Amino acid sequence: MQTNSKSFPIQLTEKSQVEGVEWDKLEFGKIFSDHMFIMEYADGSWSNGEIVPFQAIPMHPAMSAIHYGQSIFEGLKAYKSKTGQINIFRPELNAHRFAESAKRMCMPEVPEALFLEAVRALIEVDQNWVPALEGYSLYIRPFMFATDHFVGIKPSETYKFMILTSPVGVYYSEPVRVKIEEHYTRAAVGGVGRAKAAGNYGASLYPAKQCQLNGFHQLLWTDAVEHKYIEESGTMNIIFQIGGKLITPSEDSDTILRGITKRTLIELVKEWGIVVEERRVSVEEIITAIREGKLEDAFGAGTAATIAQIAVIGYRDESLQLPPIESRVLSNRIKTYLDAVKYGEIEDVYGWNMTI
Ligand code: PLP
Ligand code: COI
Repeated sequence: MQTNSKSFPIQLTEKSQVEGVEWDKLEFGKIFSDHMFIMEYADGSWSNGEIVPFQAIPMHPAMSAIHYGQSIFEGLKAYKSKTGQINIFRPELNAHRFAESAKRMCMPEVPEALFLEAVRALIEVDQNWVPALEGYSLYIRPFMFATDHFVGIKPSETYKFMILTSPVGVYYSEPVRVKIEEHYTRAAVGGVGRAKAAGNYGASLYPAKQCQLNGFHQLLWTDAVEHKYIEESGTMNIIFQIGGKLITPSEDSDTILRGITKRTLIELVKEWGIVVEERRVSVEEIITAIREGKLEDAFGAGTAATIAQIAVIGYRDESLQLPPIESRVLSNRIKTYLDAVKYGEIEDVYGWNMTI
């Protein structure tokens, strides 16, 4: 059936798959909602944005994204409140970061207003795919890739911008064990670490697999030059609490993804009167604090992972146990507050939600 939203033509699926969803058994990223958004870039501009049934896309064997990796993505979530209202958390920050990633990867920017309108239109169409269970959400994955048919190295002249959505449960089902990495590197100064570029994730898989074989969930990446300073972990930014203060690696260098969850919680805890230090954080400082019993809390922050408390930090041959999760006052308080805003249980005083 052909219909029209305010902004994009919509072709509705003939048979929705939503009835078959086992809502309480959702794993991360395995099933997809009925529709997707797709838009094309050619001759210097974006056009033909539309919402169509979720489907495979044809691919030319010489499509430049699969050869040379001009491919970026975003991740954000829609939540359903008890009254059925749908909240999308801070999508304007994803729109902005997507544009920044595009710039770094020599790709055309999607105008931020267009990005937001596409997200809104797609979630409106698939709103019955937003889980109504607490702890669950609809993960929204905007992505863009180069589509020239050309096996030569140059920026592509054509691209596709797409959005798919996937109802999801928790990403980590338990407090996480992270291992400090002192050999492999996620990002170097001057590289693409700040961009949400597909290749950053591909490059992380082999090193991460090595630590997973040893019982860890993820690596805690360190700087590329000396491996002395902590950067981020897996798909999360990293935050420590020592002496009541919240300490987190500064994003001034271009090696760390500027996380929206971390930015949000920093804004929040400052309002609560907690001192936040964004600076270089050395491995030595953290290990010493753990050994001296001074590390009060440590957690990762990310859209998929939400607030993921860290149970164990692996350092060389040791597994250092962090304070019991029940004693983590700050991360528990942040998680409770953010969840309450996202699920519409308390007033959204900072205006973080885009409501559908
Ligand atoms: N760092 C990396 C490498 C990530 O992939 C993510 C997830 O998006 C984050 C940090 C956290 O960012 P955000 O809070 O915007 O999801
Ligand atoms: C996100 O939190 O959106 C991420 O980027 C994680 C994803 C790679 C699963």
